Amino acid sequence: MITLNVNGTQRQVDATPDTPLLWVLRDNLGLTSVKYTCGIAQCGICTVLLDGEAVRSCAISIDEAAGGEVTTIEGLAEDHPVKIAWIEKQVPQCGYCQPGIMLQTVDFLNRVEKPSDQEIIDAMDDVICRCGSHPRIKEAIVQAAELSAGKRG
Ligand code: FES
Ligand code: FES
Repeated sequence: MITLNVNGTQRQVDATPDTPLLWVLRDNLGLTSVKYTCGIAQCGICTVLLDGEAVRSCAISIDEAAGGEVTTIEGLAEDHPVKIAWIEKQVPQCGYCQPGIMLQTVDFLNRVEKPSDQEIIDAMDDVICRCGSHPRIKEAIVQAAELSAGKRG
């Protein structure tokens, strides 16, 4: 058994230590917002936060994640600026990629409070939306940054 802290709750997981975090989140804990796509840390769609930093859950073992705080999109507050901006800008098309891209955005905006257009493009370069929602993603990131600035005062 391995204990994981997921979305603020301690969860006991019956899996071998080298099991990718992605599979445990989906199959053991039922958090199916975490999506499998490439499986080799190339597309960014399985992204979750580990201690606030974006990580590819297909490429990190539960042994590596144990002891840290894992956050999936379910653990992000409903009034989080990223969630509000994503809704207001109607970003998703099929929606498959969005949880991972939103969590990558949370990490990005924690590090860069007022990103330039180019910084946004660079930060989202390694998360792939096959529906072509990147123009709306960029708009939503600008709005989320403004909302976050408003919250900070
Ligand atoms: S599924 Fe993990 S980066 Fe693509
Ligand atoms: S919204 Fe469909 S893959 Fe991104």
